Amino acid sequence: MKIWIVGARGAIATTLTVGLLAARRGLLPLEALLTETSPFGALDLPSLDDLEIGGCDLRPGTLAESVRATLDGVGSFSAPVIDAVMPALDEMRVTRGVLRGGGPAVEALAGEDREAGAAGTARDAVRRIGDDLRAFAGGTPTVVVNVASTEPPPHPSLAAWDAEALERALDADDPRIPASCLYAYAAITAGHPHVNFTPSGGAALPALAELARAAGVPLAGRDGKTGETLLKTALAPMFPIRALTVEGWYGTNILGNTDGLVLADPDNKASKITSKKGVLEGCLGYAPAGDVRIDYFPPLADHKVAWNFIQFRGWGGHRMRLQFTWEGTDSVLAAPLVLDVARLVMLAHRRGEAGPVGALGLFFKTPEGSDEMNLHRQYDALLRWAAAPVPNGIAAPDV
Ligand SMILES: NC(=O)c1ccc[n+]([C@@H]2O[C@H](COP(=O)([O-])OP(=O)(O)OC[C@H]3O[C@@H](n4cnc5c(N)ncnc54)[C@H](O)[C@@H]3O)[C@@H](O)[C@H]2O)c1
Repeated sequence: MKIWIVGARGAIATTLTVGLLAARRGLLPLEALLTETSPFGALDLPSLDDLEIGGCDLRPGTLAESVRATLDGVGSFSAPVIDAVMPALDEMRVTRGVLRGGGPAVEALAGEDREAGAAGTARDAVRRIGDDLRAFAGGTPTVVVNVASTEPPPHPSLAAWDAEALERALDADDPRIPASCLYAYAAITAGHPHVNFTPSGGAALPALAELARAAGVPLAGRDGKTGETLLKTALAPMFPIRALTVEGWYGTNILGNTDGLVLADPDNKASKITSKKGVLEGCLGYAPAGDVRIDYFPPLADHKVAWNFIQFRGWGGHRMRLQFTWEGTDSVLAAPLVLDVARLVMLAHRRGEAGPVGALGLFFKTPEGSDEMNLHRQYDALLRWAAAPVPNGIAAPDV
C-alpha cells in the first residue's frame, strides 16, 4: 500500500513519516497503533513494512527540508533518530499542492509559491492532482489522506449539490469549491480511498459521497479525534449512566504549532469549533451550557494543553464539579491514527465497501456515515465491523 498525503510537509505528516522510517530501522517501537492490537492485528491489513509515503504541499521540495523546520525542538524524536532517517527523507519528493478557498491564513503558508498553487481553473487543479497521484501510485493500491491546514467552512450551498451539480460547478470554475474538495474529487475519480483527518469540507459534500458510492470508493472522516475531544467522548457517557445531569461543560485549548497559527484566523477556527462542539449532545442526549475555545500560544510548539470544567447535578439537585487538564503532543497522537485509518479504509476497499464508512467513526470528531459519538459504542461498532464484513458494494451498516 501507498499513502499520498495532502499537507505532506506539516507536523502530522512528518511525525508519521519519521516514526515509520525509524521503526523500520529498529530505532523506535511501533507503538500506539490500534491496528497492531487484538483483534485488528489478525485482519488482512496492508503491511507497514513496505508502505510508501508521498504527497503534496503548498511548497514543493523534499520531506527532509520540512522535518528540520517542523520537528526541531519539539522533542518527539531525538536528533540521532532524525539524522538516521534523513537520507531516506531526502529522496521523498513532495509535489506542489493546490491553493484554493483556504483564506489568508493558508495563503500566508504558501509564501512566494502562492501564485503557482492558485494557478489555473478547478478542472486544471483536479488534472494536476490526478497526474501527481497517478505518477506516485504507479498502479499500487493508494490511500489519499488529507492532513492539510483547516479551511474555513465550505459555502452552505455546496451541501445542496448532487453529483451533476458538482460537475457543472467544476466546469464553471466555481470559486466556492475549496482545495480539500478538489483533492477528494481527484481521489474518488481515480478510485483511491480517501481519508479526511481535518475539519475541512473534503469528501463531506453529499455530491462527493454520491460519486464515491458510484465509483466503489470508501471514505473516512472527518477531523481526527486525538486529544480533548477523545477524552470528552470517553468521559461524557458516564453522566447519563449514573443519571447525573451535566449543567455546563466549558473547554479551552492552547496550542503553538502551525495548525494553531491557522486556527487563530476566526474563519478557519469556525470549522474546528463546529467539529468539537458536536460531540457532547451526541453523548449526553442534550446540549449543556458552555463553550469550546482554541487559542494560539506559540511557546507550546506542537504540544497542546486543554482544560475542561464540568458542572453536574446529582441527588436532590446537589451541584458538583469536575475539572481535567489534558497535556498532549498533537502530532504524536495523530500520526498513528492516520496509519490506522489508512489501513482500515484500504481493508474496506478490499471488501468492496463504498461511500462513508461509519464504523471508522471512532477515529473522528465528526464521524461520517454514523451518528454515534460515544467512544465506547464507536469501539464496539468497529469491533463488529472488523468481525463481520458487509456485502460487496454496500455502504457500511447503521452503526
Ligand atoms: N494534530 C492533531 O492532533 C489533529 C487532530 C485533528 C485534526 N487535525 C488537523 O490535521 C491538519 C494538519 O495538522 P498539522 O498539525 O499537521 O498542521 P500543519 O500546519 O503542521 O500542516 C499542514 C500542512 O498542510 C499544508 N497545506 C495547507 N493547505 C494545503 C493545500 N491546500 N494543499 C496542500 N498542502 C496544504 C501546509 O503548508 C502545512 O505544511 C489540520 O487541519 C488539523 O486541524 C490535527
